[in-house]
Amino acid sequence: MVSTKAPEDAYTAEPFLPDRGGLPALRRAAADCRGCPLHRDATQTVFGAGTADARVMLVGEQPGDQEDRQGKPFVGPAGRLLDRALAEAGIDPGDAYVTNAVKHFKFTRAEPRKRRIHKAPSLREMTACGPWLAAELAVVEPELIVVLGASAGKALLGSSFRVGESRGALLEREIHGRPERLVATVHPSSVLRAQDDEDRKAAYEGLVSDLKVAARALS
Ligand code: URA
Ligand code: SF4
Repeated sequence: MVSTKAPEDAYTAEPFLPDRGGLPALRRAAADCRGCPLHRDATQTVFGAGTADARVMLVGEQPGDQEDRQGKPFVGPAGRLLDRALAEAGIDPGDAYVTNAVKHFKFTRAEPRKRRIHKAPSLREMTACGPWLAAELAVVEPELIVVLGASAGKALLGSSFRVGESRGALLEREIHGRPERLVATVHPSSVLRAQDDEDRKAAYEGLVSDLKVAARALS
């Protein structure tokens, strides 16, 4: 029997993973995940999007407001910016599998019925959700992983990961016992949060330049 409630000290998606099957089976099972408390307030699980033969896997933090409503990753403002940056860097969206370290939207509300404000997932929640990301990696076996921001980096490479130290270089690391190639960059939302136009332009150009490193690694 699969337990339906995770005890406080044991948040994990593990019991909800299917024994077999590809992405469709994973997506179906993830829809019912209750491996941590984040499923309670969110609308739905936002699983990765793309095909099992994708060459590159892009990993973000967690779905945002729009993603939570639509059930698809990177369909809101950050996603639009990411699409533009990918096109500019020469990465074909058809080659990409897009997902997040955490599959449910975490948010707070300043007041009831007010706008939902993104809240960063805790290490515990990222660890709980890790089995889904590991399963996606095992099925897709991408040639390259693009790490979008600190949360994705911590989820994949450990809590000491820092974007500033790792970005824009081709890294080779063992993840879940397999050698992986990765390129880290900033999260597209951080570009949207820039203080003024000048900062935003610089942040965007930095993102595109890191993605060009990824594009070269794929060519
Ligand atoms: N930010 C993310 O990290 N992922 C999404 O899917 C959307 C915004
Ligand atoms: Fe399961 Fe991940 Fe959602 Fe938590 S965030 S309930 S582990 S899918």
